[in-house]
Amino acid sequence: MCGIIGYTGKKDALDFLLDSMELLEYRGYDSAGIALTEERSADNSSQETKGVPRIMKCTGRVSELRKLCHEEKLSGSCGIGHTRWSTHGKVTVENAHPHRFGRVTLVHNGIIENAPALIEKYDLEGRLVSETDSEVAAAVLDHFYRKDPLEAIRKMTLKLKGTFGFAILFEDIPGKIFSVRNVSPIVVAGTEEAKILSSDVAAIVPFTNRYFVIPELSVAVLSKEDIELYDMAGEAVEIDWLTVDWDIHHSDKGGYPFYMEKEIMEQPRVIGETINAYVKEGKPDFGKEGIQDEILADCKRICIIACGTALHAGLVAKSLIQAMIGIHVDVVMASEFMYNDPVVDKETLVLAISQSGETIDTLEALKFARSCGSPTIAIVNVKGSSIAMAAEHVIYTLAGMEIAVASTKAYTTQLAVLYLLTARMALARKLWPQEKLGEYMKELLRVPEVIEGILARKEEIHHLADTMLNARDVFMIGRGLDYSILLEGSLKLKEVSYIHSEAYASGELKHGTIALITEETPVIAVVTQDKLKDKELSNIREVQARGAKVILLIKEEKEEQCENYWKIFYLPVMQDEFMVMPTSVVLQLIAYYVSADKGLDVDKPRNLAKVVTVE
Ligand code: M6R
Repeated sequence: MCGIIGYTGKKDALDFLLDSMELLEYRGYDSAGIALTEERSADNSSQETKGVPRIMKCTGRVSELRKLCHEEKLSGSCGIGHTRWSTHGKVTVENAHPHRFGRVTLVHNGIIENAPALIEKYDLEGRLVSETDSEVAAAVLDHFYRKDPLEAIRKMTLKLKGTFGFAILFEDIPGKIFSVRNVSPIVVAGTEEAKILSSDVAAIVPFTNRYFVIPELSVAVLSKEDIELYDMAGEAVEIDWLTVDWDIHHSDKGGYPFYMEKEIMEQPRVIGETINAYVKEGKPDFGKEGIQDEILADCKRICIIACGTALHAGLVAKSLIQAMIGIHVDVVMASEFMYNDPVVDKETLVLAISQSGETIDTLEALKFARSCGSPTIAIVNVKGSSIAMAAEHVIYTLAGMEIAVASTKAYTTQLAVLYLLTARMALARKLWPQEKLGEYMKELLRVPEVIEGILARKEEIHHLADTMLNARDVFMIGRGLDYSILLEGSLKLKEVSYIHSEAYASGELKHGTIALITEETPVIAVVTQDKLKDKELSNIREVQARGAKVILLIKEEKEEQCENYWKIFYLPVMQDEFMVMPTSVVLQLIAYYVSADKGLDVDKPRNLAKVVTVE
């Protein structure tokens, strides 16, 4: 989950590293650190000499580290930096990266599961200054280092169990950064001016649009002039370059106070771009992705694996596919997938959904499904990410860089792809006449414009959010698709506002939860599904009878039904199955305004990180 950056080049690296770390902070923001090799001239020589890298680190944000580095006049043209999300050891300066042991200085993303065994084997007890598994790796690497860095790295990787992405400096090889990874991603890029590496494409975008992902268990060596790639036998490997198509300007806040607001506002555009990318002659088309109709027509069931927001997108897809295609869909939390003796086979189409493409639970579940012979499709936002590489086919959402920890535009673009995939599946199975497809596509193509309409009403939504500012709990109730929408709405609210919030299937309330309803409890009720409306309205009356203050989000055409509500927000009318789109955006804005008005750090909620690369 941590952010890693490395720079070796012609200029001073400090500001580049700090600026990049600020971009990467969304991966972890407990503490930050940097190691820089200063350039000093050798006696009577113009050559750079070696220097033990100087390390600066602190708890808290990169802004603190920036002050420290400038006070201490840190400089140098080769360095590595790290933003931490703690796994091993508390948030302390000692546990912050980089870690130095002997001649090795490194930063690490991942978890070394056998760290305790390595401490024993290499007699490290009492010789380490931190509680981290990363320092143990540095010690093992130093143990094997005999002036041959590739050989030492090879030997170290054979001893480590777990996941890792390392950026490594050897004190007697100034100007070079070595990197090796297993599961945890590292990407590399280069220009005339410098060579850089990062845990994340986000840091590459302001620098260049050409990069490559270090293949697992290969070693990249970056010097000012060159990038080399080696396999574990020390043989040179050809580099497989990729191109980022995110615009550099998409990585700033664009005048908004927080990325979350900017990303919410971008939704009409990115949803439109995602839909248009996969529509040919009025039909959904995934031919370029190599997805043949047979895959969609022949499967007997579907299993969707994902976490968090992506899981909620999967739940919407389940409702759609079961209703429209009539085949069974399981949606499984990727973190639980392996512990429930998963039953997937050649007849199960497995869909893995992930914004980052790096969520380790989703990645492991996907690999397992492939090993069972299941056809697999990944729906991913980040190009070249591990999940994109691990799946048989990949459909990219074109959300662009999503920086706020709370996912917004990634979710709605995932939904856009899932709507298209459902329609393609209906075509592949010859379930829909032309007319039905035409209506469905027409409605889907309206989504950007309908969301524009919601965004234009953001002040009205801001007023709804005001009513929740002092709430201790907020409940959200709905049935069917409305319940799926609320699971996501509730996650958004709790993660950015720290208000306890739960989504309940409204029919379940009276089996226990209704005991929690009091006059102090705002209840958001969503009513968008015609077939469920009557039951939903009577469930709402049940909570009203217990004093709950109900904020009703309801389709505009149902206006005449609405009485006695605390607040009402009329949603624009779409076909029922598409109502998830405008409704989700209302819930995103509510969460955003509550968080911003409480003065919280909207983009970096406490304890979280954007990319979850630990199990
Ligand atoms: O990158 P992924 O989509 O695989 O991430 C999965 C979850 O960690 C993520 O959706 C998380 O729940 C959101 N950031 C919450 O807003």
